Amino acid sequence: MSINTEKIRELVKKRDEARLGGGVKRIDAQHEKGKLTARERINLLLDEGSFEEYDMFVTHRTFSFGLDKQRIFSDGVVTGRGTIDGRIIYVFAQDFTVFGGSLSETFALKICKILDQAMKVGAPVIGLNDSGGARIQEGVRSLAGYAEIFQRNILASGVIPQISAIFGPCAGGAVYSPALTDFILMTENTSYMFVTGPKVVQTVTGEVISTEDLGGAHVHATKSGVSHFLTETEEEGIMLLRKLMSYLPSNNLEDPPVIDNNDPIDRLEDTLNEIIPDRPNKPYDVKDVISATVDHGEFLELQRNYAKNIVIGFARYNGRPVGIVANQPNFLAGVLDIDASRKAARFVRFCDAFNIPIVTLVDVPGFLPGSGQEYGGIIIHGAKLLFAYGEATVPKVTITLRKSYGGAHDVMSCKQLRGDVNYAWPTAEIAVMGAKGAIEVLEGRNIAKIEDEQEKQKFIQEKEEEYIEKFANPYQAAKYGFIDDIIEPRNTRFRVIRALEALSTKKEMNPPRKHNNIPL
Ligand code: HXC
Repeated sequence: MSINTEKIRELVKKRDEARLGGGVKRIDAQHEKGKLTARERINLLLDEGSFEEYDMFVTHRTFSFGLDKQRIFSDGVVTGRGTIDGRIIYVFAQDFTVFGGSLSETFALKICKILDQAMKVGAPVIGLNDSGGARIQEGVRSLAGYAEIFQRNILASGVIPQISAIFGPCAGGAVYSPALTDFILMTENTSYMFVTGPKVVQTVTGEVISTEDLGGAHVHATKSGVSHFLTETEEEGIMLLRKLMSYLPSNNLEDPPVIDNNDPIDRLEDTLNEIIPDRPNKPYDVKDVISATVDHGEFLELQRNYAKNIVIGFARYNGRPVGIVANQPNFLAGVLDIDASRKAARFVRFCDAFNIPIVTLVDVPGFLPGSGQEYGGIIIHGAKLLFAYGEATVPKVTITLRKSYGGAHDVMSCKQLRGDVNYAWPTAEIAVMGAKGAIEVLEGRNIAKIEDEQEKQKFIQEKEEEYIEKFANPYQAAKYGFIDDIIEPRNTRFRVIRALEALSTKKEMNPPRKHNNIPL
């Protein structure tokens, strides 16, 4: 055997050893929990054969606690690059079979290398998390490692898309790396995230709670809004990550990828001419409007089960990705509250950072009144959405479907917040407030003077009808140029596509400054 053959054999042997991670027993245990291994996940995520692993032979540098006798190649995280639909993606996958995927100094350095290189080349980073947190034996070196990653997450924010999938434990300060990224995906039953686990919670507060109820995938999809996507299985989750990437540019200097479209751009949707109910308080599903107008009805919704009064997600018009923000009359009448404002604000900022035009569908009765909202800081949280729309320089197309009242009218991408194209359906009601509230304020004194109840009601009705006739329509706003045109609902797709095409060369800059001071 030549020396070359011998050396190559050694390499192959070492590679095979590295690929086994923590060994067959631990791999089996991982599978028994219904989980994939780090490398299986990466292979599913990336285009076949595209993965190039980095730092396969890295091991930790710790000698205490008997760790000097346990040096495992890759040290608990598999890192590298590959492609999704032919585009370069950097990836890391924590390997639970090696020290429970716990983070050591070298583990952190491997992730930092990926983040640094992704920044240099302008490529997204996807992190697949499955870890017992800081490697206990390494003490503060592990904490420093986390902070090195956090710092890079922060600098990469708004420069390259950063996506986190949680496929196992993610606890303690470790949750903050995913939290600093753009989107979080979780899977049912196998993933959880919390800052302090159930045992500590019980010790400190006396509260007895299960892992699932404290930080399971459902909790973060419905109550906290921490996660953007929830899937039943890891395989489904990984496919969803691939789909998500198809809407995103590789970095903030590129436009999102435009794909061939064979859905006719002038497709008329007659159902939209009938979709607004006769009674103003009757709900309808705004997602029907979205799916009727976007290419092939395809809409990738984010945070589907959180703050359902506002709908956000990605779609395409004539092959061009957009972010859609829509009030949802089907839930809490589409009112804006704290959660809805925060949810939409972050999405608008993401789209703006990555050159994704924003299409806004408005049917909003106003902000949710009450002490609960005021004490919770609706003033600050509502301002987030207002701020996000106002600072956004990407193309902004707004269509008012029905209600657009008061402060919420201004917030929802109105003309004066630099809305580029603002259309309204003939069913739009753009005014300071609804007829009922307005008449109570304007005619309160006169109403109080009428003693006969029937007469009183008749008077109120007449006044309300007068108000509706005068104000609850799009023509007042159109008269002042606040609405560019009133369009036939069935023609919405065509009008949006043409607007986006016209706006595709839009250039708008905000004044130079260190950074703005969005109300946090
Ligand atoms: C070193 C760890 C580890 C850790 C797990 N392992 N967590 N080794 N440091 N943090 C090892 C285990 O010893 C075990 O090794 C193997 O990984 C698998 O762990 P199991 O406990 O057998 O698995 P499971 O029953 O599935 O439980 C998983 C777990 C549990 C819930 C994650 O391991 C656990 O509670 N780990 C500790 C979590 C934790 O407290 N981490 C520190 C949080 S503080 P063997 O050899 O037996 O297979 C933190 C601060 C971050 O992370 C701060 C950032 C700013």
